[in-house]
Amino acid sequence: MSSARVAVVGCGTIGKRVADAVVRQPDMTLAGIAIRSPSPAALAAAAGGARLYCGEPERRASLERVGLPIAGNAEQLFAEADAVVDCGPGSTGAERLHGYAAFGLRAVLCGGVPHRSVGLTFCTSGNYAAALGRTAARVTSCNTTALVRLLAALHPALREGRAHATLVRSASEPDKPRKGAAGATVTLGPSHHAADIRLVLPWARLTTLALSAPMVHGHVLTMAAQLDSPLSVSEAVALLAAARRIVVRDAPRTTDRLRDSALHRPRADQPEVLVWPDSIAVDDGVLLLTAAVHMESIVVPETIDCVRALCGLERDGSACAQLTDSALDLDEPVRAPLARPNRPRQEVFV
Ligand SMILES: NC(=O)c1ccc[n+]([C@@H]2O[C@H](COP(=O)([O-])OP(=O)(O)OC[C@H]3O[C@@H](n4cnc5c(N)ncnc54)[C@H](OP(=O)(O)O)[C@@H]3O)[C@@H](O)[C@H]2O)c1
Repeated sequence: MSSARVAVVGCGTIGKRVADAVVRQPDMTLAGIAIRSPSPAALAAAAGGARLYCGEPERRASLERVGLPIAGNAEQLFAEADAVVDCGPGSTGAERLHGYAAFGLRAVLCGGVPHRSVGLTFCTSGNYAAALGRTAARVTSCNTTALVRLLAALHPALREGRAHATLVRSASEPDKPRKGAAGATVTLGPSHHAADIRLVLPWARLTTLALSAPMVHGHVLTMAAQLDSPLSVSEAVALLAAARRIVVRDAPRTTDRLRDSALHRPRADQPEVLVWPDSIAVDDGVLLLTAAVHMESIVVPETIDCVRALCGLERDGSACAQLTDSALDLDEPVRAPLARPNRPRQEVFV
């Protein structure tokens, strides 16, 4: 197969982004998007040229009643596709997996689907080759994707791969106000707690990092990694900065303001893991860092890679990631809000 026709199921937080990313790939076409309910994202997708299909036939009339052009039911979409990315909510994709097999589709499932339903959990920098020749895979969820990228980048410096991470997850997303949320502020570098404890218990080998939640614009994670041999902060920065989809750059220290630094991107997405350089420290053979994870977009590049691997469009993981990132304009560093690129902004689904 030299190119793939890709169906997307669901046009929610992840689905609308995946559909948009598929359109940008040189070796993929968007066969269409299966939807279930009317939404601004579905309307924008149709306006942008995407063909919409009805995921549940009994809902078709309600979709057409609000002016959404429905090309057919989901089975008609699947008949015209080589691969499907199921972006339905939570674990529901597992129920549809056997239907995809019946149409001979390669199927990419999202992180909410249990591993046991699919048999392979995929992340490009960890196990790209494992997806080659398979019919289905599940892409790691947002924080897991970030951790795999970070651990893969730091692996040469780690002692037996040992690390600890603390995840502070957004309670909701901007397009899911029903969950309720607020903003967040992070404290960079080692917090005062470990130092205070050493004043009382000099033998304690404790490291701590602190941050506040709840929030809506992205997760924050802290990592403490045991080093195999001495590593300077600048060497750690170099390891991280050399890795794909990790950026080490000074940035606002609250997740809501951090979002503003990507306003030149579609939807202000930041699929890269952002590591605050001033958060990186080496303390008693332990490397500490704090990173931001834009949960709505971080999994999109790996999802595209997974389509390419399952369809056999590219056998080499790093060549695949380069192609994906180039199509998504990820090779460029995220710029400050006022230094926007001069090229015209591309149309995207909301
Ligand atoms: N959101 C994140 O930040 C994030 C990050 C990483 C991974 N993930 C994973 O990605 C997956 C999708 O999450 P999400 O946040 O994008 O969910 P979401 O925003 O709730 O979107 C899911 C969409 O799928 C639609 N849908 C449900 N059944 C369908 C069907 N039979 N046919 C067509 N469309 C159907 C839903 O329509 P209705 O409106 O009718 O329900 C909804 O629009 C989950 O596995 C999740 O765990 C999410």
